[in-house]
Amino acid sequence: MRPVRKTAAVAMAEGNRPARKRRRSAKHASGSRAETALPAAARPDGPRATDFALATRAATPKARGPAGEVYLVGAGPGDPELLTLRALKLMQRSEVALYDHLISDGVLALLPPSTERVYVGKERGNHTMRQEEINALLVALAQQGRRVLRLKGGDPFTFGRGGEEIDSLAAHRIRFEVVPGITAALGVAAYAGIPLTHRDHAQACLFVTGHLKDGTMDLDWTALARPRQTIVVYMGLTALPALCERLVEHGLPASTPAAVVQQGTTRDQRVVTGTLATLAEDTARAKLRAPTLVIVGSVVKLRDRLNWFRADARTR
Ligand SMILES: C[S@@+](CC[C@H](N)C(=O)[O-])C[C@H]1O[C@@H](n2cnc3c(N)ncnc32)[C@H](O)[C@@H]1O
Repeated sequence: MRPVRKTAAVAMAEGNRPARKRRRSAKHASGSRAETALPAAARPDGPRATDFALATRAATPKARGPAGEVYLVGAGPGDPELLTLRALKLMQRSEVALYDHLISDGVLALLPPSTERVYVGKERGNHTMRQEEINALLVALAQQGRRVLRLKGGDPFTFGRGGEEIDSLAAHRIRFEVVPGITAALGVAAYAGIPLTHRDHAQACLFVTGHLKDGTMDLDWTALARPRQTIVVYMGLTALPALCERLVEHGLPASTPAAVVQQGTTRDQRVVTGTLATLAEDTARAKLRAPTLVIVGSVVKLRDRLNWFRADARTR
């Protein structure tokens, strides 16, 4: 195994945390490392090999060996009821949870009080911890023999850098499991009443990011501007005016319907609809804030009839 470089993150795992980080996580941290009995809903009830191994180790901590394990879990787009059963089970048996800004309070509330919480940030332009530090912290915690939950918004493998995190675990021979989540495109479109495909409108759907590594949007505009498809843009709010202009320049009619959805699936969901000609201005006027998803294509018009979600009327 490669030795772990002792970064601030690793020092944190060893209980030697810088004052700045201690202050931040005091707000978010709760609970101790003590084991608690799992609620019935969280107990392993199937014949899965991993369940058996986990249950055995939970019962006999000394047999756990030197390394713990990491669960890379997709938490969905915000509504806690969109978590998978597997996500909930692993959340409830975790000892320490690393989560970022996309994780809703409702999802966090499902962690047992005994799970230690570590906020690792990653808001645009405000990264509490760098990606390398997060990777190193996951390794360090697992090497202490702990059951580590890495909770990611949406799906860990969709614009989530989940691949990088488990690559680092694999390099250190740490056991991990990946639990897919409902990615923002699917959850947000459903709650906004916008079917991403529809036989009369779109036979294809593309997911792209509006935020690239060097700050530019180096997208395949010709492919994006093809007819009869839907485009979903993650992290596209800042670049929205340029995005709409480029699509029109490459051949989409300026009258193409388009929408921006803020905090989809949550009580704070807001939707602005328009066309490629009007969307950027209307969105700025509405003062939408991240996280937002941009949806472009004639399917957006269907929302006029299919808008079903009433956040206030939701009985939990
Ligand atoms: C770093 S990406 C992570 C995507 C995530 N892994 C997923 O599968 O949804 C963050 C972006 O996802 C989108 N996003 C995530 N949750 C959202 C939500 N509830 N409403 C609108 N957009 C959301 C936004 O575009 C946000 O900037």
